[in-house]
Amino acid sequence: MMNNLPEATMTLILTRQHLEQVLTMRDCIEAIADVMRRFSLGETVMPVRLMTPVPGRGSHAAMPAAIPGLGVLGIKSITIFPTNPERGAPAILGLVILNESNTGRPLAVMDAAYLTAVRTAAASAVATRALARPDASALALIGAGVQAGSHLWALSEVRPLRSVAVYDIDRLVAERFIETKSRRHPELTFRLAASPEDAIRGADLVCTVTTSQTPVVDLNWLKEGVHINAVGAHTPEARELDSATVTAARVLVDSREAALKEAGDLIIPLQEGRFGAEHIRDEIGEVLAGIKPGRTSDAQITVYKSVGIAVQDIAAARLAYERAVSLGVGVPVEL
Ligand SMILES: NC(=O)c1ccc[n+]([C@@H]2O[C@H](COP(=O)([O-])OP(=O)(O)OC[C@H]3O[C@@H](n4cnc5c(N)ncnc54)[C@H](O)[C@@H]3O)[C@@H](O)[C@H]2O)c1
Repeated sequence: MMNNLPEATMTLILTRQHLEQVLTMRDCIEAIADVMRRFSLGETVMPVRLMTPVPGRGSHAAMPAAIPGLGVLGIKSITIFPTNPERGAPAILGLVILNESNTGRPLAVMDAAYLTAVRTAAASAVATRALARPDASALALIGAGVQAGSHLWALSEVRPLRSVAVYDIDRLVAERFIETKSRRHPELTFRLAASPEDAIRGADLVCTVTTSQTPVVDLNWLKEGVHINAVGAHTPEARELDSATVTAARVLVDSREAALKEAGDLIIPLQEGRFGAEHIRDEIGEVLAGIKPGRTSDAQITVYKSVGIAVQDIAAARLAYERAVSLGVGVPVEL
């Protein structure tokens, strides 16, 4: 088999618990940095994902990608049902199928919910490492759900965090988040914010990780030199950032093709005529490859607009598979 992938004849089933044992944020950040570079250099194959609306519930996403240089391809199949939490289920559920790219043989089938939480935050950490000021230490989390937790984990790997302000439209969710995370991160000072503005004023880093359809960030609240990871919205009509913020900022995207199709944060101000398409054209992988600038001044506001792309899932799945095989984790089955 190509590229050091472990030899195996069976397909490995990896549950969430298995992935929690084998997938570390630190390793995932490096895997995502590597694949974002490959993606922007044209070394991967990835159609824009196929979204199937599910009336009354949400949507299903089919997300295929091939990474020939890593010897793998695969697909993530997920449902995004925003009201699931009201029924006691996570908003995002699904599976990843990982194939070997010589013969197409299925190497593994794994839970996609945990993988998505880790790879999305790892991508934001990659962008933060490339774009944020090195001394950024005050984090604002807008939204206190699954992604907020993984973003706290990821950003603490790449910047010297000291304080975290948390706002969620559901106060109880934010309170519970702070209670749990302050036990896990005694080195950080947590603060329950009364509003998005209260959380954002004074922050060096802002992560918007909500299911909001309308802006939760206003340019007037932002500190000079802030870096924003805008993660939540992924339809042309939905956004978390106001037009003024996107217009003022140096904007980097994960995929320019996907962003122009899915990111309301960028599409709405583009349609308003606030800027031309060149303002939202540059990819984080191009910055990592050294072919586009990242931050160009200390005072500049930088925005990483993430819609989430399948190469990230397949790279993270490959990492998890490789670690699981070497640690003897998972359930091998003959299909
Ligand atoms: N970019 C990507 O790659 C990517 C990947 C996974 C998920 N997402 C998106 O990220 C978002 C968060 O995902 P999650 O799994 O953490 O969901 P979640 O349901 O666990 O958390 C979302 C939180 O946002 C809060 N919220 C909703 N509206 C708000 C508002 N106006 N202000 C403050 N808080 C608000 C909710 O109360 C909830 O606690 C979703 O929109 C999801 O689709 C993006």
